[in-house]
Amino acid sequence: MIPILDSKRQYAKIGGEIEKAVTEVLASGSYILGKHNKAFQTEFADFVGTKYSVGLNSGTDALHLALRALNIGRGDEVITTAFTFVATASAIGLAGATPVFVDINPDTFNIDANKIEAAITPKTKAIIPVHLYGQPAEMDKIMDIAKRHNLKVVEDCCQAIGAEYKGQKVGSFGDFGCFSFYPTKNLGGMGDGGMITCNDENLYNRVIALRNHGGAIRYYHDELGVNSRLDEIQAAILRVKMPYVNEWNKKRRENAYRYNEMFAKYPEILTPKEIDNSYCVYHQYTIRIENRDKVHQLLQENGVGAMIYYPVPLHLQKLHKELGYKEGDLPLTEKDTKLVMSLPMFPEITPEEQQTVVDTVVKCLNMTKQTV
Ligand SMILES: Cc1ncc(COP(=O)(O)O)c(C=O)c1O
Repeated sequence: MIPILDSKRQYAKIGGEIEKAVTEVLASGSYILGKHNKAFQTEFADFVGTKYSVGLNSGTDALHLALRALNIGRGDEVITTAFTFVATASAIGLAGATPVFVDINPDTFNIDANKIEAAITPKTKAIIPVHLYGQPAEMDKIMDIAKRHNLKVVEDCCQAIGAEYKGQKVGSFGDFGCFSFYPTKNLGGMGDGGMITCNDENLYNRVIALRNHGGAIRYYHDELGVNSRLDEIQAAILRVKMPYVNEWNKKRRENAYRYNEMFAKYPEILTPKEIDNSYCVYHQYTIRIENRDKVHQLLQENGVGAMIYYPVPLHLQKLHKELGYKEGDLPLTEKDTKLVMSLPMFPEITPEEQQTVVDTVVKCLNMTKQTV
């Protein structure tokens, strides 16, 4: 079986360092917002290129608290993509606002910046671009629109740590960058975790308060907050992993280009494209393929752990029934939802395994052609 991701291989290499760091935390007696949280926040902000970062429970909380800190709530609209993980939109709902979905650019699977302006209404307060699969959204166009229409920008960087657009790291363009340390991410913890990045001191202080029951001073609460702190053990683990991120991302890119070459002789299988001046970090390597569901099922049966991210676009999820979207509203999103399939991708995958994946994809595609 070639899994979509094999975390055990990473652990085999750096497990010793991780165990040492965890044991130190256990022995320290400091389990909440200790020295690792503090140091990791500084290291993370330095990496992304922002003044501040705040450790949180999850990427979902990062998105939710970003909106709260920007005073976005009931009656407000937030423009985003429907081609993403549900958390992007549920964060909008949790803040009390309404998501407005814009179609994608099928070359990148990201929000089509050229379609954003048509979706702006007097209620629009913010845009959440998602750097899906590790590919940056077109941040210059998005920031320009935001500036002209006085909108906030919250970047969903959950799949894109280390990705760059025009030489600048994602998470440093908008008012906030939101990151996830879910174990499958390019920088994954060993449990849940998230981070917010920003450059504005007031916004930073607001998130610090919101993550700690809405008060900067202990037992004094100015507003409704949550308990969303990055666990100290996770912070210690993530500090061990952080110095490897660039190298891991580089390997992911090499693996992606190797897949591209291997698929080159099969033009019916569409491989991912990169936009100009970008540094994609290939959180996923996602192809588009006919008879996708059948191919996917056959791949599972033939030992290849392919995944479909995501089978139902957010505007057609039951969760969003009340928003009144219907099939046909976002044709490019809906089309690609039926075609996309992500293949095994992680820094340690071998060229031989990649060749097996490619051969098996081609074999399974041919099998579906024989049976339809
Ligand atoms: C695009 C995107 N947004 C948001 C999230 C939410 O992050 P978390 O699972 O840490 O809450 C994820 C990942 O899970 C994601 O992939």
